[in-house]
Amino acid sequence: MGACRHGDDGAGRPWARVVAGTTAPVDELQSCAVTESPSYLTATAEAYDAMAVRYAEFVRNYLDGQPLDRATLAAFADFVRTAGAGPVLEVGCGPGHLTAHLQKLGLDASGVDLSPVMIDLAREAHPDLRFQVGSMDALDLADGQLGGILSWYSIIHTPPHELPPYFAEFRRLLAPGGYLLLGFFESEGEPVTAFDHKVTPAYRWPIDDLAELARKEQFVEVGRTLRAPQEGERFRQGHLLMRRQ
Ligand SMILES: C[S@@+](CC[C@H](N)C(=O)[O-])C[C@H]1O[C@@H](n2cnc3c(N)ncnc32)[C@H](O)[C@@H]1O
Repeated sequence: MGACRHGDDGAGRPWARVVAGTTAPVDELQSCAVTESPSYLTATAEAYDAMAVRYAEFVRNYLDGQPLDRATLAAFADFVRTAGAGPVLEVGCGPGHLTAHLQKLGLDASGVDLSPVMIDLAREAHPDLRFQVGSMDALDLADGQLGGILSWYSIIHTPPHELPPYFAEFRRLLAPGGYLLLGFFESEGEPVTAFDHKVTPAYRWPIDDLAELARKEQFVEVGRTLRAPQEGERFRQGHLLMRRQ
């Protein structure tokens, strides 16, 4: 039986849906039957479906020019391997290049993404790895199954008021002692700020605000990186590494 998650799409339209792996009162579940997924998820999936081939080409060699990002991912992999708490899921994996990178770093890695076209590309490029279509806030996986979750620039499209349940889902999926690594655009002294991302609207976050959302879901901060934008990038980039208690 799944729990029921409610929200609104930012324009006053309510939604609710079943989240696998936990229990909920029957009256809550009944209300799930009459509503739909939030429209921002549909819009995000459609936008990435349309741009997937160009996006995959754009990010193909991205890690080559990013020593700090490689170091952060390597540290995450090191912590996860040492904890030995289970496999790793990249949520919002796009064309799967970072899932494959994590596998090369010695992890048992798989990926999930909203966009079916992205998942087709990921499967084609990395036929030895597992990729599924799904939304990271409502995954059909058992509680405590994962040793690590990587969300690399994938919570950026979630409207801020919808984000807290994402951290609850990350907590549910991670085993105690598992690790969460977030990559995102940082807001440089501003509050959470919408910006005109090339694919679909996105948000830049104060790193402290994301750390606080995670803290409320039993995550403790392990470390953080803020790096300056490189050539072709517009914003400072934040990386936040947290451990589930
Ligand atoms: C900017 S891309 C990042 C892709 C990849 N992680 C990378 O670093 O290149 C954002 C990805 O997150 C996915 N995404 C956004 N919201 C999602 C959600 N709720 N669940 C799963 N995937 C999501 C999009 O479909 C898209 O592929």
